[in-house]
Amino acid sequence: MTRVFVTQRIPEAGVTLLQDAGYEVVVSEKDGILTPEELLSAVQAQEYDAILSTLCDNITPEVLAAAPNVRIVANYAVGYDNIDLAAAKERDITVTNTPGVLTDAVAEHTFALLLALARRIPESDRFTRAGKYHGWMPTLLLGVELKGKKLGLIGCGRIGSRVAELAGAFGMEVLYNDIKRSEDFEQSTGAVFVETPDELLAQADFVSLHVPLLDATRHLVNAERLARMQPGAFLINTSRGPVIDEVALVKALKENAIRGAALDVFENEPDLTPGLAELENVILTPHVASATEEARDAMSTMAAQSIIDFVNGKRPEHVVER
Ligand code: GLV
Ligand code: GLV
Repeated sequence: MTRVFVTQRIPEAGVTLLQDAGYEVVVSEKDGILTPEELLSAVQAQEYDAILSTLCDNITPEVLAAAPNVRIVANYAVGYDNIDLAAAKERDITVTNTPGVLTDAVAEHTFALLLALARRIPESDRFTRAGKYHGWMPTLLLGVELKGKKLGLIGCGRIGSRVAELAGAFGMEVLYNDIKRSEDFEQSTGAVFVETPDELLAQADFVSLHVPLLDATRHLVNAERLARMQPGAFLINTSRGPVIDEVALVKALKENAIRGAALDVFENEPDLTPGLAELENVILTPHVASATEEARDAMSTMAAQSIIDFVNGKRPEHVVER
């Protein structure tokens, strides 16, 4: 019998799918993220054939060695920087992810953050709740409009492209930088390709990050790059925390070198760089960009289907290429 270990409770759809396929499914009973030691002992508890992991689980060579029967790791995420792909390859383990189904959720959250920054929504909410609203004023909590502003996208895969489409509805101009240039995308959205992140940062009123975490993108936004941004610009990150040097960002925000930032992901998640949470000009959300009922159900089904396809000798739809 096929045995599957699921590292955290996920929406039922995927678990049901695996059970209906006749597999034995063990879902971690811990209400939260397993520590590295707990993960290691959990995967050894039975002879598992498959692991359904989340982005919080570091799938290290030790974890894979501790579960010698595992042939597939289905990651419940589009990003897979938590998995040691070289170690998986060495053991001939297939790794899958869940792209596509969370594109709208993440793009919409990006826009929620963008609008919240532009119109100072959290700050206005805090102000009103604190009883500071004593009557309409011509200059109270002025924000900025999106129409005619430049949105710079660093990374323009599925999610970045969807953000560009949404930006069109607000009348924003879109600039993008990516390792690949796409003329089709430029034609359908009017987006303009910019050769380097430096050039994009210097021009944009809003910068949004949509790159995967790789050696090449770690600290892509560092002190030097922050200094290139316009003093009135905003930075939004819904990709992976380490893409930004968070210490440098706190400093830039403190000095008002940029106008504001909205972060859904953090360099040392779930810890926050000291000083970050005290700043007025930052909006923080706890890695919830893909947290819609629609996306999380679809991710659950997709991760489970990857395991079922693999066990049936079929290539899963979204194998991570290395
Ligand atoms: C979420 O962060 C994901 O990668 O799916
Ligand atoms: C992820 O789905 C991306 O391509 O942006």
